[in-house]
Amino acid sequence: MNTTRHRTPRALACTLAFALVSATGLVGAAPPPPPPPGPPGPPPTAPAGNNNFRDQAGVWSNFSLPGATDRRGPFFQALGTNGRTCASCHAANDAWTATPSELQRRFADSSGNDPVFAAIDGTNCPTLDIQTPLAHANASSLLLSKGLIRVEMPVASTAEFAVSNNTNRYGCTSTTALSVYRRIPMSANLTLLSSVMWDGRESAPGQSVSDALLGQASHAITGHAAAVQAPANTVLQSILNFELGQFTAQSADRNAGSLSAAGARGGPVVLSSQAFTLGSNEPFRADGGGGVPPNPVFSLFTAWRSQTGADAASRARASIARGEQIFNTRPVSVRGVAGLNDLPGPNGLPRATIQGTCGTCHNTPNGGGHSTPLNVNIGIANADRAGPDLPVFTLINKTTGNSVQTTDPGRALVTGKWADIGKFKVPTLRGLAARAPYFHNGTADNLGQVVGFYDRRFNLNLSAQERADLVAFLESL
Ligand code: HEC
Ligand code: HEC
Repeated sequence: MNTTRHRTPRALACTLAFALVSATGLVGAAPPPPPPPGPPGPPPTAPAGNNNFRDQAGVWSNFSLPGATDRRGPFFQALGTNGRTCASCHAANDAWTATPSELQRRFADSSGNDPVFAAIDGTNCPTLDIQTPLAHANASSLLLSKGLIRVEMPVASTAEFAVSNNTNRYGCTSTTALSVYRRIPMSANLTLLSSVMWDGRESAPGQSVSDALLGQASHAITGHAAAVQAPANTVLQSILNFELGQFTAQSADRNAGSLSAAGARGGPVVLSSQAFTLGSNEPFRADGGGGVPPNPVFSLFTAWRSQTGADAASRARASIARGEQIFNTRPVSVRGVAGLNDLPGPNGLPRATIQGTCGTCHNTPNGGGHSTPLNVNIGIANADRAGPDLPVFTLINKTTGNSVQTTDPGRALVTGKWADIGKFKVPTLRGLAARAPYFHNGTADNLGQVVGFYDRRFNLNLSAQERADLVAFLESL
């Protein structure tokens, strides 16, 4: 528990940025600049029950299925001992996550006393000095710069590997209880999930997603909120009902205007009625689907494919529609992806290449997760992406003696399996523009960097126009 209360130096907002980038050099890059005061473009047309917020790409909105979001329920209550609520990390005005710019504002406004910055996991390591706001800002540098929460995961003695080295520079150097640093997923759009947590650890095989979410909420209260006792079932059920009613998506684009105009089906209201069944639109079917889902994954902007106007809004709409087509149809040769290429294909043998699309992994209709609990390694935890601030672990295979380096063993910390190192679940892709940075460890600052990553990783040879179209589409989700 963090009971430290800092005095309030007025100059904190200024010193914070300085602390982050320079004081001890803990952070490699300056935090991203705050969003501009407000993009131009038409105001969104928002139905009742909606909340609208600006982001870099336009406007995102939350639609609460039960009506106006009631902020009095247990999701918004401090149920533990450190003052934290679910909303401390999954904030209603921050796309049900916590983004660096908003976290920096909260730190400055509270001199670091906002419970989100509690030492338990809101600092890079609980042993770091947080006695002054400046020290605390440095201790929370990963949270403030990339929105990363420390997650401590034990290495089971039965695991197929042991950890021989851990380069953690913040003092969390244990090789049996690993500190990994992960982005906070949205606690909205949950009706489209097939598994819970980046590594799927809250989802047991055969368990319903609702039951997994109940277990997740209980663990969040005893973990993040440091409650002494597990909460009552009625409390958990109330949290679950609340979460399942929240839908968040981009609703207006700064250039294209309303994302539900002229036949388009963007925004959170349409999303709230999106049907989902486990295993729907599966690319890997018994009848040999190959790697391409049977139906287009996204069909939100189909109506905009025929936009031909030369005005800025028409051109922006056409670009978003082209981006959707690229996502749905652009061939992606999937190679070297553990969790796909190493598994038996239709003929019983592993496939060196799977001819797929973005939807090979992101196949959930108009959601973008995988419709079954798929965990894959696309290389986001590779040691060469660590930069100066993420730890690198060396894992040794107890049988073969082989070693591998990673910033986060991912699924392997849940199963103990060597083959699962670096695997993460396929995340839902809605509400993206509101919640940079991307990937489980925040190593892509913006969607341009995400697209650049895929272009290189899978040799897509996208043209500048195709990259721009894909980004415009992802920003509109
Ligand atoms: C200190 C910050 C923090 C608090 C407080 C917190 N969470 Fe989270 N939440 C996270 C992080 C970080 C993850 C991802 C961890 C991982 O995957 O290893 C997460 C994951 C989740 C997920 C999984 C979403 C997905 O796509 O898999 C849900 C749902 C969720 N939290 C709901 C809650 C609820 C409900 C509460 C309150 C009972 C809560 N959280 C409190 C940080 C927090
Ligand atoms: C081989 C499987 C696979 C393919 C193909 C794939 N993705 Fe992903 N995608 C993932 C996984 C897994 C993650 C999460 C990785 C992580 O954070 O470690 C992810 C993450 C993302 C994210 C970040 C989401 C977030 O919440 O941070 C975006 C955006 C994205 N993918 C878009 C795309 C696009 C666009 C394509 C096609 C060009 C694509 N993906 C192709 C598996 C895939």
